[in-house]
Amino acid sequence: MQIHDPHKHLIYQANEKRYDQMDYRRCGNSGIQLPVISLGLWHNFGHTDNLENGRDILKTAFDHGICHFDLANNYGPPFGAAEENFGTIFKRDFIPYRNELFISSKAGWDMWPGPYGNLGSRKYIIASCDQSLQRMGLEYVDLFYSHRRDPDTPLEETMGALHQLVQQGKALYVGISQYNAKDTARAAAILKKLGTPLLIHQPRYSMFDRWVENGLLDELEKQGTGAIAFSPLEQGILTNKYLKGFPKNSRAVRDPRYLTKNQITPAIIKKVQALNEVAVSRGQSMAQLAIAWLLRDKRITSVLVGVSSARQLKDNIKTTDNIDFSTSELRKIERILGKR
Ligand SMILES: NC(=O)c1ccc[n+]([C@@H]2O[C@H](COP(=O)([O-])OP(=O)(O)OC[C@H]3O[C@@H](n4cnc5c(N)ncnc54)[C@H](OP(=O)(O)O)[C@@H]3O)[C@@H](O)[C@H]2O)c1
Repeated sequence: MQIHDPHKHLIYQANEKRYDQMDYRRCGNSGIQLPVISLGLWHNFGHTDNLENGRDILKTAFDHGICHFDLANNYGPPFGAAEENFGTIFKRDFIPYRNELFISSKAGWDMWPGPYGNLGSRKYIIASCDQSLQRMGLEYVDLFYSHRRDPDTPLEETMGALHQLVQQGKALYVGISQYNAKDTARAAAILKKLGTPLLIHQPRYSMFDRWVENGLLDELEKQGTGAIAFSPLEQGILTNKYLKGFPKNSRAVRDPRYLTKNQITPAIIKKVQALNEVAVSRGQSMAQLAIAWLLRDKRITSVLVGVSSARQLKDNIKTTDNIDFSTSELRKIERILGKR
């Protein structure tokens, strides 16, 4: 909703019923609950994108109870742009709601030139978090991640840097992304010793990428750490958008940095078509089926979607109407995915 202030500026007023329709799950053994659907700003928030569209997406998210926004230092393009644009929108619309928001950022991938702008050193992580806070205009982030395991930096140093951010008041909680089960166990043990628990792991997880089922989810459960699944729709493949070709405004056509047309093979489309039939039989869209299927496992605290429009986000939010599966539906999905 928008109202006018005395200077005739439009002011965003969040939906009063924003918490009525979303479900929340506890993040591991922590005090934090997250919405079962969270919003990621990896794509569609760069300087090449339309800021008003991004603003519409963020307001739609919050109006529907999505209070967790996920960023990283290098989201753009160019690197840093998503945090800058988020900062602009935050300042315009979200300052009154800061305490209702759970905002994350990360460092671990290429950010600036030279040996201190990448990977897992204390120097990089601390400096990068400072930059992120500046770009977003925040005093602290709720969550800061090591974006990937750096095999050449002692894990004690990387985890020590995350712990230091908490001690400095720059981050409230810490997380890791894409670490394997063994490194996750070590990271959790180091952090525990330091007195900063490992709140959450952010792995890639979808119907087409199930590596987390081979030990990681068990380890997270053991550690009392939550899990938030990224690229749950395989960057759009697990929706009905590519079933009839390549739409002009799709990620694979518009922005093939990480998803190219070649990756979307006829064999993959055949699987999505079969999955889409299951979705239709459940009265769901393909995207809703893909999200619901991830949420079937209670160890998944949240599913982290990206969207290029508020309309897509509303479609995804409707998933919460039906996340239960019958045994025969699950069996059918397994047969299609070709796992068992
Ligand atoms: N930790 C890491 O290393 C890492 C890596 C990657 C991502 N992430 C996080 O995960 C978030 C999500 O990743 P992602 O963007 O790859 O997620 P995704 O949800 O798998 O894919 C998002 C894309 O799917 C399409 N889409 C979404 N909802 C749709 C719907 N209802 N109907 C039709 N199409 C729909 C849109 O594509 P079109 O643009 O084609 O419309 C959208 O841009 C990121 O923003 C980031 O926060 C983390």
